[in-house]
Amino acid sequence: MKKEIKIFSSPIELAENFARELVRMINVSADKKKTITIALSGGTTPKILYSVLGNHFSDSVHWEFVHFFWGDERCVPPEDPESNFGMAKRILFDKIRVPSANIHRIMGEKDPSKEATRYSNEIAGHIRERRGSPVFDMIILGLGDDGHTASIFPANCELLKSKHICEVSVNPKSLQKRITITGTVINNAEKVVFIVTGENKAEVASAIINNTSVVNYPAAHIEPKNGILKWYLDIAAGKMIDRSMQN
Ligand code: 6PG
Repeated sequence: MKKEIKIFSSPIELAENFARELVRMINVSADKKKTITIALSGGTTPKILYSVLGNHFSDSVHWEFVHFFWGDERCVPPEDPESNFGMAKRILFDKIRVPSANIHRIMGEKDPSKEATRYSNEIAGHIRERRGSPVFDMIILGLGDDGHTASIFPANCELLKSKHICEVSVNPKSLQKRITITGTVINNAEKVVFIVTGENKAEVASAIINNTSVVNYPAAHIEPKNGILKWYLDIAAGKMIDRSMQN
């Protein structure tokens, strides 16, 4: 596994740099007439990335070569303010020309266990396999201050090695049901990118990146065997990470 750590001066600098990287990746793939698959993160951190993409790259990207999925979703309807799909639709998809067939949302309004199965089948039906699991070209992840990622919480570490593509989990703070891709799928991806901003993430990010975590943080178990792991942090979230760790 190749690992890369970058610390940016601000959330907007992180978002602009990552947006340009994403756009390059998409257009290189489009030049080869190859589609790519990206699993989006939810939460608040990626909003600035989706806003940069929607406001500055709506016309200069061959979006038709991208299939969008989600790494997790709250079990709420798409119009609910909590919906990860609803957030991405408002900030990104309503501003770019991407075929609706390329947007594979998790149906948070459905019965969670049935939807976990349905979404697993949707992923399996669209994404090539390696070692028996789907291989996303890129999975974008956030980091919770309890070390969770996607919706794999510290109490659900068994989801890191699940034989399923998706599972149902529960946010321990809100008791809200979630649907999440499993660690098995995340660790099978070509590229996994954590985007982390804010001082409240500094301690957990440092414990994971410096490998000093005595706590069993799920995000510490994200190590794409055949892929690249990237940590993109702003200076607040990266304040406890030694500059020599950057590459
Ligand atoms: C979600 C996310 C979750 C998120 C982290 C960080 O659905 O909430 O997938 O894993 O990335 O909780 O959230 P913030 O970006 O809001 O800090």
